[in-house]
Amino acid sequence: MDLNKVLTGKWEGNYDAINWNEVSDEIDKATWHKLTEQFWLDTRVPVSNDLKDWRELDDDHKWLVGHVFGGLTLLDTLQSQDGMAALRLNAKTQHEIAVLNNIQFMESVHAKSYSTIFSTLNTPKEITEIFAWSDSEEFLQNKTKRIYTLYHDDESPLKKKISSVFLETFLFYSGFFTPLWYLGHNKLTNVAEIIKLIIRDESVHGTYIGYKFQTEFNQLSDNEQQELKDWMYSFLYDLYENEEKYTHLLYDEVGWTDKVLTFIRYNANKALMNLGQDPMFPDTAEDVNPVVMNGISTSTVNHDFFSEVGNGYRLGNVEAMSDEDYKIDSWENKHKQD
Ligand SMILES: [Fe+2]
Ligand SMILES: [Fe+2]
Repeated sequence: MDLNKVLTGKWEGNYDAINWNEVSDEIDKATWHKLTEQFWLDTRVPVSNDLKDWRELDDDHKWLVGHVFGGLTLLDTLQSQDGMAALRLNAKTQHEIAVLNNIQFMESVHAKSYSTIFSTLNTPKEITEIFAWSDSEEFLQNKTKRIYTLYHDDESPLKKKISSVFLETFLFYSGFFTPLWYLGHNKLTNVAEIIKLIIRDESVHGTYIGYKFQTEFNQLSDNEQQELKDWMYSFLYDLYENEEKYTHLLYDEVGWTDKVLTFIRYNANKALMNLGQDPMFPDTAEDVNPVVMNGISTSTVNHDFFSEVGNGYRLGNVEAMSDEDYKIDSWENKHKQD
């Protein structure tokens, strides 16, 4: 089947069932396995345990936490509504489509999880203000619109993948800095747990989409590769310049701007690495503030694509369904005590 034709409704031949026993790209299968193994939901993390820490913050720091999460909500909304749908159109295998479906759903979980945090920490009036801000803030809207436009440009499938990796591995990190900073100081640890679960997902997404990018990029001629590289570095630099302004806006008041900029340059290099490219900035892990690095590495979370799930987060005990479960009365009785 020509998958692009299938996905755009133009396919007229027989329709093929997906066969997971014949997988042409083993990375699809490994990624599916990894992502389903690390599945999580925001509602399982006890954010209200952070209320004591939250009440001890002054207004400037509360403002910062609320607004970085407002910005992150917008980016995860873009990923769940447009990003994965855009990448699906250029999928090469049916298994890749299945992986992207999984990613798309998790992006919706990410976007929703900030609302779980807001409803616990913020007043309804504050929540309304945060969303009004993220729906109109100039630098946040700039980056969102830039990526949105590329997602809907069907002329350049590789630019869609570059956009996705830049968003996942670079643009999120001006926001992630704040919860990681608090985690490094052993504050807001449940909020940070949610963010670490998101980072763990983004790490797999960035690696996988970067890998898919590289398989196609390597088939281009030298000239085509060079042209795309030039575009990629200049796009990254444009995004960085915008990110500098966004970072000043968020962090000048609390005085963390320089630390955040180092952190985002380090992550910009990681985004390029996912795409198989050389770094752009001189910043390395040693340059990043140790408190934030400590936040990233605390507890048992891991960022290594192929290693086992190591997060403190636990799924509830799962028991198999029985016939009794399908009788609604008995189900209610059985679970009343839970
Ligand atoms: Fe996400
Ligand atoms: Fe993602």
